[in-house]
Amino acid sequence: MKEELKNIKEKILEEIKKVQLPEEIKDLEKKYLGRKGEFTNLVKKIKDLTDEQKPIIGKLANDLKIELEETFSNLQKEIKTGVDDLKSRFTIDPTLQSSKKEVGHLHPNTIIQNEVVDIFYSMGFMILDGPELESEYYNFEALNIPTTHPAREMHDTYFVKTDKDFKKSEKMVLRTHTSSMQVRALEEFGAPIRAIFPGKCFRNEATDAAHDNTFYQLEGLMVDRNISIANLVSVMNTLLTQIFKKEVKTRLRPGYFPFVEPGFELDVNCLICGGKGCSVCGDGWVELIPCGLVHPRVIENGGLDPQEYSGFAFGMGLTRLVMMKYGIEDIRLLQSGDLRFTRQF
Ligand code: DAH
Repeated sequence: MKEELKNIKEKILEEIKKVQLPEEIKDLEKKYLGRKGEFTNLVKKIKDLTDEQKPIIGKLANDLKIELEETFSNLQKEIKTGVDDLKSRFTIDPTLQSSKKEVGHLHPNTIIQNEVVDIFYSMGFMILDGPELESEYYNFEALNIPTTHPAREMHDTYFVKTDKDFKKSEKMVLRTHTSSMQVRALEEFGAPIRAIFPGKCFRNEATDAAHDNTFYQLEGLMVDRNISIANLVSVMNTLLTQIFKKEVKTRLRPGYFPFVEPGFELDVNCLICGGKGCSVCGDGWVELIPCGLVHPRVIENGGLDPQEYSGFAFGMGLTRLVMMKYGIEDIRLLQSGDLRFTRQF
């Protein structure tokens, strides 16, 4: 039995030397140490030995088992870390295909946001970032939307657990629009100010081809002495010609938003159907930029005197702009994480 153990050990070590591929080590281990392995079968015979021999051979077999297990596990580790000289036994085939490394790229939202940011930057606007988890104050009250205001119903808001440390408001929300940055920016920088706030917004909406619960807006604010609708229209026209790289037809309609007075909807002639009417626009016009002159109360909330300062604000639907520029007919694709979609950009 002693002899048999010695032989099997030599046999195993001999076979290990012949191994060519890492997978073969596992097979070899199974062949000898597995449940029905040769070594295991040999060990089973110990029970038939005399009482005198049993402990002696038993110990020998046990030590050998531990030694072999260690040998196998060391080999596995060394192959993984590539330090084993076994590796040098593996022939290298340079004609084999290497695993492909994929390089990522920008999401269409980011591509368009960067373009728009560049345009505003060239017009002297600051680019500001703001919190997505916002206080009810900055998201609503500061913008002249008190709790009882019906306009709140249009914002299907995600309310978040109260944060007692927040001074100005009891409740926190996922911001429903980037307008939440208007008063923050006025408080921080005063006037004159030219700034844009691009970012993610959230609404608890039933989703369809035109609505998603997460989307991007790009808000703009300009406050100074003597700012009028003429400044607003001029900035909007410069913006749109540069974005679409051609003159686009626009129209201003009156629109109501509690934080601007007067308020407008700036519509763009649909670039998907050319103004004929399609599933995205309906009647050939796309509501793209709601805007207006900043409400005196908002100027006041920002710490400025509305007798002295006036301004304009706008809230562009960045996601909608992306859809128009690329002819995307379903908003949900943008956040779907479907690589077949994102790889096209
Ligand atoms: N915050 C508004 C919304 O998400 C959009 C908006 C309207 C922004 C008019 C503005 C504005 O700055 O002047 O519905």
